[in-house]
Amino acid sequence: MSFDLVLFGGTGDLAWRKLMPALFQAWRHGKLPGDGRILAVARDERSDAEYRSHIRARFGGVDEAKQPSDEEFARFAELLHYRRMDLSRPEHYAGLRQWLDARAADTVVVFLATSPHLFVPICEQLGRAGINGAHVRLVLEKPLGHDLASARRINEAVAAHFREEQALRIDHYLGKPAVQNLMALRFGNALFEPLWRRESIASIQITIAESIGVGTRGDFYDQTGALRDMVQNHALQLLTMIAMEPPSTSDADAIRDEKLKVLKSLKPFTADSVAHDVVRGQYRAGVVGGQKVPGYLEEAKVPAGSATETFVALRTEVRNWRWAGVPFYLRTGKRLAARDAQIVVAFRAVPHPIFPGTRQANKLVIKLQPEDGLELHLLAARSGGDGNETLSPVSLDLDFDRAFATERVGGYERLLLDAIAGRLNLFVRSDEQEQAWRWVEPVLEAWRADPQAPRPYVAGSWGPAASSALVARDGCAWAEEL
Ligand code: BG6
Repeated sequence: MSFDLVLFGGTGDLAWRKLMPALFQAWRHGKLPGDGRILAVARDERSDAEYRSHIRARFGGVDEAKQPSDEEFARFAELLHYRRMDLSRPEHYAGLRQWLDARAADTVVVFLATSPHLFVPICEQLGRAGINGAHVRLVLEKPLGHDLASARRINEAVAAHFREEQALRIDHYLGKPAVQNLMALRFGNALFEPLWRRESIASIQITIAESIGVGTRGDFYDQTGALRDMVQNHALQLLTMIAMEPPSTSDADAIRDEKLKVLKSLKPFTADSVAHDVVRGQYRAGVVGGQKVPGYLEEAKVPAGSATETFVALRTEVRNWRWAGVPFYLRTGKRLAARDAQIVVAFRAVPHPIFPGTRQANKLVIKLQPEDGLELHLLAARSGGDGNETLSPVSLDLDFDRAFATERVGGYERLLLDAIAGRLNLFVRSDEQEQAWRWVEPVLEAWRADPQAPRPYVAGSWGPAASSALVARDGCAWAEEL
């Protein structure tokens, strides 16, 4: 199968940091279909050779095991091409069409890794130039809009020129192996399903903690904030995977229909409940991994006195028979104590304890990163030989990297390969995405109306104290507080 991958934003941060390394890995693993071309599109004038050497230099920043040898890079680079385009000029799209038509590949994937305000004009120009035939797929990178209205404008522009099944909205968390495993755990095993409900589960915690700060993206981040950057998409997608009903098949739409139902069942926020159930924070200077780091307001390109949140913790509920009354806590932030993404499913305590000692209940911890694994926390009898059984916590640990003893495929690698092959399961449908915006909008509105700045937290901590208080109210604690 032949393919052309056209990458708008070919010299942007995402292209350098994530997409090119992922494409290289896919090529190295022999998974990129043989006859392919990758065309990076951007504003500046450069030759193919200049683009290739620029990419080569950028590989210095990736993990050593993922770096190409010179010989490997030379072969991979044969796929790479560069084209200067002024995105407002129709004749440049006509030129792109000619370039594509000259080879007439079986599949054309157009990846929009530009700023989202360009999505609408690019879609229109692609449509006018006829780069929207049935063999074309359009991949849209987040952020897809800034709020519900802007997300809708993008979706309408896409729908005017592409069919829904041609539009692939990326949430790279869905490409992570641990997220696939979550589906496998729930729908490939009968063990947990009878317990996966309010009768047995006391609470669910989803944490996506990052130790990095905003880095060089201060200007982008300041317009975005943690709620739009991480909660509206990654954290909510994880929540849907945990809470969805078993789909009737593994088809993309069967899965996405169930995820949409979860999003529609989330307890809506009101101005009052935002004040009660949502905590926003912003990091101050501190120490992360032994290094002193500046506070958010001292980061490059962050405006003085910014009230943008770098941390969010919130409590919600899924209002249906399976989950009624079970608190779902979501938490994400930058410059936290560790890079750690995990979901904790906390089971109810035994109804009638007969053993003395710890009353700790069972927990299933689904670890997404840095390791990818499962931990099942149980209590076991540690006999002292005197007839007094005291219960001690023990855990069953499963490390997927070790269990499978093969290199796991990264999120972007998986999603790029899926886009080329036309597998839609791991992409977000427009209605899911709009519903997620609908749900976060009252929070954005309440924050706009409330001049109170986000709560400060020290870099290297687990966020503001109010985050612990949020869960403590229900008698819960975050994983690291236990
Ligand atoms: C991106 C956010 O979507 O996800 C970034 O824009 C964040 O701010 C990143 O750092 C986290 O992804 P990962 O895969 O490193 O957890």
